[in-house]
Amino acid sequence: MRNIFLCLMAGVITCSCSHDKKEIYKDPSAPIEKRIDDLLSRMTIEEKVGQMNQFVGVEHIKANSATMTADELKTNTANAFYPGFDEKDIERWTEEGKVGSFLHVMTLDEANYLQSLAMKSRLQIPIIFGIDAIHGNAYAPDNTIYPTSINLACSFDTAMAYTIARQTAREMRAMNMQWTFNPNVEVARDPRWGRVGETFGEDPYLVTLMGVESVKGYQGQFDGPEDVLACIKHFVGGSQPINGTNGSPTDISVRTLREVFFPPFKAGVEAGAMSLMTAHNELNGIPCHEDKWLITDVLRDEWKFKGFVVSDWMDIEHIHDLHATAENLKEAFYQSIMAGMDMHMHGIYWNEYVTELVKEGRIPVSRIDESVRRILYVKFRLGLFENPFVDKDQSMTIRLCDEHRQTALEAARKGVVLLKNEGVLPLNASKYKKVMVTGINADDHNILGDWSAPGEPEDVTTILEGLRQISPDTQFDFVDQGWDPRNMDPAQVALAAKKAKEADLNIVVAGEYMMRFRWDERTDGEDTDRSDINLVGLQNELIEKIYASGKPTILILINGRPLGVEWAAENLPAIIEAWAPGMYGGQAIAEILYGEVNPSAKLAVTIPHSVGQLQMIYNHKPSMYFHPYVDNKPSTPLYPFGYGLSYTTYKYEDLKLSAQEIAQDGSVKATVKLTNTGDREGTEIVQLYIRDKFSSATRPVKELKDFARITLKPGESQEVTFDITPDKLAFYDKNMQWCVEPGEFIVMVGSSSADDDLLKQTFNVKK
Ligand code: BGC
Repeated sequence: MRNIFLCLMAGVITCSCSHDKKEIYKDPSAPIEKRIDDLLSRMTIEEKVGQMNQFVGVEHIKANSATMTADELKTNTANAFYPGFDEKDIERWTEEGKVGSFLHVMTLDEANYLQSLAMKSRLQIPIIFGIDAIHGNAYAPDNTIYPTSINLACSFDTAMAYTIARQTAREMRAMNMQWTFNPNVEVARDPRWGRVGETFGEDPYLVTLMGVESVKGYQGQFDGPEDVLACIKHFVGGSQPINGTNGSPTDISVRTLREVFFPPFKAGVEAGAMSLMTAHNELNGIPCHEDKWLITDVLRDEWKFKGFVVSDWMDIEHIHDLHATAENLKEAFYQSIMAGMDMHMHGIYWNEYVTELVKEGRIPVSRIDESVRRILYVKFRLGLFENPFVDKDQSMTIRLCDEHRQTALEAARKGVVLLKNEGVLPLNASKYKKVMVTGINADDHNILGDWSAPGEPEDVTTILEGLRQISPDTQFDFVDQGWDPRNMDPAQVALAAKKAKEADLNIVVAGEYMMRFRWDERTDGEDTDRSDINLVGLQNELIEKIYASGKPTILILINGRPLGVEWAAENLPAIIEAWAPGMYGGQAIAEILYGEVNPSAKLAVTIPHSVGQLQMIYNHKPSMYFHPYVDNKPSTPLYPFGYGLSYTTYKYEDLKLSAQEIAQDGSVKATVKLTNTGDREGTEIVQLYIRDKFSSATRPVKELKDFARITLKPGESQEVTFDITPDKLAFYDKNMQWCVEPGEFIVMVGSSSADDDLLKQTFNVKK
């Protein structure tokens, strides 16, 4: 009997050895941890360090090495090549198993091709392809282009954020891309900064909810063929740059970090985000890419982040060549890895220097193994070892499918904000038979926004096209102003002014230029920051001259950052802020103009009058305007956070609290009665703000703590109830302890963050 047992054991041992030889890591039925252990045990240091490195795609290298100079590389954060190396070198390294990831691969053919090179490598570890799929996989051609994040945030529709992310994931996987560098969960606090449009705005709570739903939508169960890796970025503080420019220093107290900038990242981690990107900027004197406190102490030890950290574009290099906190590149790599960095976006010298650092004993192999383990985990979870390729025939059945197009349209309808309407909207087609349409964004694909490839004409409805579709009997007279706000032709401005007199109504579609294929000509977008928030070029002149015609003139804005359109706000009868509403933005705007859709969006960001008022945010501290400006600029915004009009009207009444006094760990319900007092169905975004009246450390004058999208028929009423739980009352007290302090709290419910739009009640928290 004993002998039989020994024989069986011997069999098991032999079996496990031969199984081992058969490569456990290739066995999909083996537990992931075992697969990783097995694979790690087979990898050389060079292969491990290679997994931690990313390159731009070979087509990108070819295109840019032909057009860019090495000098231009230093400041360009969108395009690259590798001086001294060409695409053949990168292809060879891929075959040698020394590349973990690619970015800026724009076609399925190229992705499959690069993957086929990785499949020739010794261990056949698949590549993970990363792409900036910010509002749909829009950067790569032939995908659904949804409205940009700021437009989406103005819908306050978190379910829509989920749906868009889910559909985007599907379209990405159909292109063999598995990693989006999104959501951007930075809290945007400076409209000079060109990246406001790719954020969810200025409010930490709204940004958090939008970010969480995006993470869930992208990642799904994080194990299916339609799931992708989300990347919460940029950690942290770059959305409040000291001079408004991208990547400039930030100096933010730990209190403000924890109260304002950290919450969306922490929530993203809790929602399961499996990658995070560090920010270009230095934070309080330490470049984020080498900040151990941020990456290891807060992110990993405190928040228990399980995914991997990726650097931003050449930012580890910038530790040396910009921030100058490392004497050379090798030292910069060392500092970043020892702070907790897992993957390098992107470039040469990483493999050789990091390998040297390990061989010299400065970076322990165990530290490298941690990073490689995290990266491999993601590749195993997403099934890349089993399915490294994607079938081209299937791809276009998913991308741009009807369901996704419909979502893009629906989202645009919900995200366009009506800022002003003195009775002219919705347009009456029988009254306005002849309409002049002009402005740089009237008939341009710029409505797609930053991070979009130019769309095929049949996949984009411009505003002019939308108008012609919706009101075929109206005579739309188009005066072209070109796409470039900096180079408008005065003769065309004069022509529009002349034609305005002949029209019954005029529509000016103004704003910024955001398309990145014209990187140097843009006025808004990544690395496109401004020292002003006025309309660029002759746009103001155009508006004023058209208005002088005496005919009703409507302004539609297409932009990413808030624009201080003071003159228009004072003089024009109607203004629409459409942001970049995506591929069907023109249709959605036309439907709103002609009343087929009742606008419902509210501003996710404050619109100041001018840059002189900055910083201008609704959730400021009580002393902010103790001494108001003495010049003629008021201390109030042009349009406040949470503001937006509808074609119907709403009445808020009877704000009631379920208790006047609660315990420190207690909750209270706030109920308000909302009535649609107009004559159309509409959706109102009901907002709940809270203020802690007296506190041991200063608190904002109000903070958004909840909201609800409520749809009502004319005359219909509904009670809307919010649960005010302890997490909505807690803050970091004088000693940086997270707690609910006893005392009085003010509850505010209404249609915007402006005091006049809010009903108020108070309650007490007992000791
Ligand atoms: C941006 C990132 C982006 C990366 C790759 C950087 O310049 O800051 O947000 O993901 O480029 O395109």
